[in-house]
Amino acid sequence: MNPNPLRVGLTRERAADACNVVIFGASGDLAHRKLVPALYNIAQERLLPGGFGIVGAARKEYGEGEFAASLKEGVRKHSRRPLEEEPWSALESRLGYVPMEFGDIEGYRRLAAVLESNDHDHGTGGNRLFYLAVPPSAFPAILHFFAETGLNKPGPGGSWSRVIIEKPFGRDLATAQELNRICNAVFDESSVFRIDHYLGKETVQNLMVFRFANAIFEPIWNQKYVDHVQITVAESIGVEGRGGYYEEAGTTRDMMQNHMFQLLCLMAMEPPVSMDADAVRDEKVKVLRALRPLSSSQVATETVRAQYAEGVVGGKAVPAYKAEPGVSRTSRTESYVATRLFIDNWRWAGVPFYLRAGKRLPKRVTEIALHFKDVPHRLFGSNQERHAQPNVLTMRIQPDEGITLKFDAKVPGTLPRRQPVTMEFRYGASFGTEPPEAYERLLLDAVRGDSTLFIRRDEVEASWAWIDVLERAWAEESGGEPLPSYASGTWGPSESDVLLSRDGRAWRRL
Ligand code: BG6
Repeated sequence: MNPNPLRVGLTRERAADACNVVIFGASGDLAHRKLVPALYNIAQERLLPGGFGIVGAARKEYGEGEFAASLKEGVRKHSRRPLEEEPWSALESRLGYVPMEFGDIEGYRRLAAVLESNDHDHGTGGNRLFYLAVPPSAFPAILHFFAETGLNKPGPGGSWSRVIIEKPFGRDLATAQELNRICNAVFDESSVFRIDHYLGKETVQNLMVFRFANAIFEPIWNQKYVDHVQITVAESIGVEGRGGYYEEAGTTRDMMQNHMFQLLCLMAMEPPVSMDADAVRDEKVKVLRALRPLSSSQVATETVRAQYAEGVVGGKAVPAYKAEPGVSRTSRTESYVATRLFIDNWRWAGVPFYLRAGKRLPKRVTEIALHFKDVPHRLFGSNQERHAQPNVLTMRIQPDEGITLKFDAKVPGTLPRRQPVTMEFRYGASFGTEPPEAYERLLLDAVRGDSTLFIRRDEVEASWAWIDVLERAWAEESGGEPLPSYASGTWGPSESDVLLSRDGRAWRRL
């Protein structure tokens, strides 16, 4: 029998330093639904270091065994792999909890004592990974007390201290800059891990592999061949009890500034010189800096915002956005946003990128579609021309993960007819395994100190700089008329179709 069930089969390339993972906000939803289930799955894959501890920190007081029991329930409900007693017990034996007020130094002192005793009892080597799964208003106080108590300082003997910061990272450029200033006063930038869970998705990482590990796509990945690009992040869910948060954010801050811009960067960036964290992020930030700035008067013509009205999604009647708990009856916060933007650089000059994201759309689907230009000269029957369909390469991020290339083929028979057909790659069919959850990959990378899939300071600021113009223009809209609406279960407002139809294009039907 192996004395340490967490360590069996640890692979060399994935070897991670011994450490404590400290979850601030451990009584909350993210810890129960995502973080601890992710750690459980990493442990099941034998990828956790031998010296390992998980310490929860939150305000809530738990009775004996209650904290572990509630996390176990979270794993039972939300883990990719089914809960099994033995591996759970191994993880549970490394679990601690410190009840604390985030604004009181005493809690941090008690936490420091628990971490030291873990170093001694579980061989965690003085290394600490802090995960701030708390509302952003708590970030500054927590960072301040890290500095006060020295929890941010690398220990003697080369041990490290890192911090993962959940989104939203600021609500505009000024607040993001201020948070960056505080973060970098307390931690070196190499120890700050700004998380965007889309980067942990297998299909998102595959964007880079697809582009840069294959010779045939990159030569056509530019304005010479690409007519336009569509990025869709559609959700069928509504605000799911998060009305209060959503009112402050809206789809642009909630989805576009982070997740969609990350997809855009990976899709549009130049090949990095290596897969080193800074080399990749250098290229992403260049895309953000090349985004053509909008003037406030252009915001009205280049963007569309809307709210869902009541309707039917998946056969179920659902309420309007304004009827959701926590949402103002006169709200002007968007649950849908679409925009046309341009990347003013050599590769993408003149190519429109159409982005749309929304809640209460007919289904959940995230994809990037490159629509290629038409052939230079049509050879096949003039009566066919109006049916001509350009090639489309679609990268399906979720669900039904895969890549599809649409092209024309001759319909068998004596008539010169052609028809679009598809070549398909499906993860399920090719690999037969379920991809890991985004948080598994990201937590493991943070434990290993690899920040390639985390957002760098300049990236977050560059994306806010572009979004700020939109938010400011919308805030200043005169009249305060209600936003356009769309019935839940439909593909957004008609204004969004006009954004493309005026260019002679149309959203893909998904
Ligand atoms: C979160 C947003 O960041 O991403 C949510 O706050 C959204 O509003 C979610 O529903 C979507 O994530 P996923 O992984 O389900 O596409």
